[in-house]
Amino acid sequence: MSQADLDAYRLAAIDELESAADKSAIDAWYRKHLSSSGQANQFKRQIGKLPPEERRGFGQAVNEVVKNLQDIYDNRHKESEAAALAQRLAGEKVDVTLPSRQRRRGGLHPLTQTLREIYQVFLGMGFTVYESPHVELDYFNFEALNMPPHHPARDMQDTFYVNESVLLRTHTSAGQIRAMQKLGPGSVRVILPGLCYRNEDVTTRSEMQFHQVEGLLVGPDVRMSDLKGVLLQFARALFGEDQAIRLRGSYFPFTEPSVEVDIRCTLCGGEGCRMCKYTGWLELLGAGLVHPTVLENGGYDATKNRGIAFGMGVERIVLLRHGIKDIRQFFRNDSRFLANFR
Ligand code: DAH
Repeated sequence: MSQADLDAYRLAAIDELESAADKSAIDAWYRKHLSSSGQANQFKRQIGKLPPEERRGFGQAVNEVVKNLQDIYDNRHKESEAAALAQRLAGEKVDVTLPSRQRRRGGLHPLTQTLREIYQVFLGMGFTVYESPHVELDYFNFEALNMPPHHPARDMQDTFYVNESVLLRTHTSAGQIRAMQKLGPGSVRVILPGLCYRNEDVTTRSEMQFHQVEGLLVGPDVRMSDLKGVLLQFARALFGEDQAIRLRGSYFPFTEPSVEVDIRCTLCGGEGCRMCKYTGWLELLGAGLVHPTVLENGGYDATKNRGIAFGMGVERIVLLRHGIKDIRQFFRNDSRFLANFR
C-alpha cells in the first residue's frame, strides 16, 4: 500500500462521487467509502502493518484523504438536498394572482327580511313584540274576540281543529286578549307576529299557512287618528316616503268601527292598472278601534279605555313589494327563487 495507491484511490473516489446522479447514489457512495466499513477506513487498517518509520507519514496522508473526501461529500450532500427541496417547491407552486374561489353564502328568506323590517318600524314607534301560541283555544281565537259559537263570522275562516275547544289559530288576533291580560292596563303597545293556519285550497293566491302581524295599542286617550298615523308611517317605511293610505269602512266582529286600509298602487302609482284593477289602490290590511266587548274580555274598563288594532298578511306585503306572482313560492324553498333575495 503506497502513497501512489492512496492518490489513485482518492481521484477515483472523487470521480465516482461526481458522477453520482441522485441522493440514493450519493448515499451509496458514502456507505462504500466513508462509513466505518468503507474503503477509506481500509487504508487506516493498513497503517499498523507498515514499518514503524513509514507509519506516521502514511497515517497523515490517509487522514488528509479521508478529510478531503468528507468535505467533498458534505458539499455534494448539501447540493443534492437543496436540489431536492427546489424540486419539491416547484411542484407546490401557488399562483397568488388567481382569483379566489367564491364562497357560497346563505341568505335570509324574503319573509324573514320583510318581517324584520316590520319589527324595526314598530319598535321605532314604541311597540314591543309579543308572541302567542299557534295552537290556541277556541276562546282566544273566536269567542273572546266577539265571535260566539254561532257567530256567522266564524264561517269565513276554515279552521283546523285539534278538538272541540282547541285549534290552530286562524289569525294573530288570537293573541290580543292574551297580551292585554298578561301586560295589564296602560302598557299594551304590541305587535304579534307569526304563522296562522286555514284549511284553504292552495293556489297562487292562498296557502294553508301564512304569516300575519297584528298590532294592538290600548290606553285612555287612544283614538282613530292614532291608527291613521301609525299605519301611514308604517306604509311609508315599507313602500316609500311618498306613499299614501286610504281607509275604507268595513266590518270585523272585534273592532268598531272597522276599516280596511289601502295603499296607493305600487305598480302604477295610482293611475290605474291591472294589478289594482284600475282603482289605483291596493288592499293592505284590516284595522279598527277595539270593540268594547274585546276590551272588557282583555280586562280593561271599556268606558275609560280605547284601543286601536290592525292585522296584516306578511306574504301579501312581500308579494306587493317584490312583484311576486305566486304565494306558493314562499314555502317551496326553491333555492333559485330564494337566491333573488340575497
Ligand atoms: N284578523 C283579521 C284577519 O285575519 C285581520 C284584522 C282585521 C285584524 C282588523 C285586526 C283588525 O286587528 O282590527 O283577516
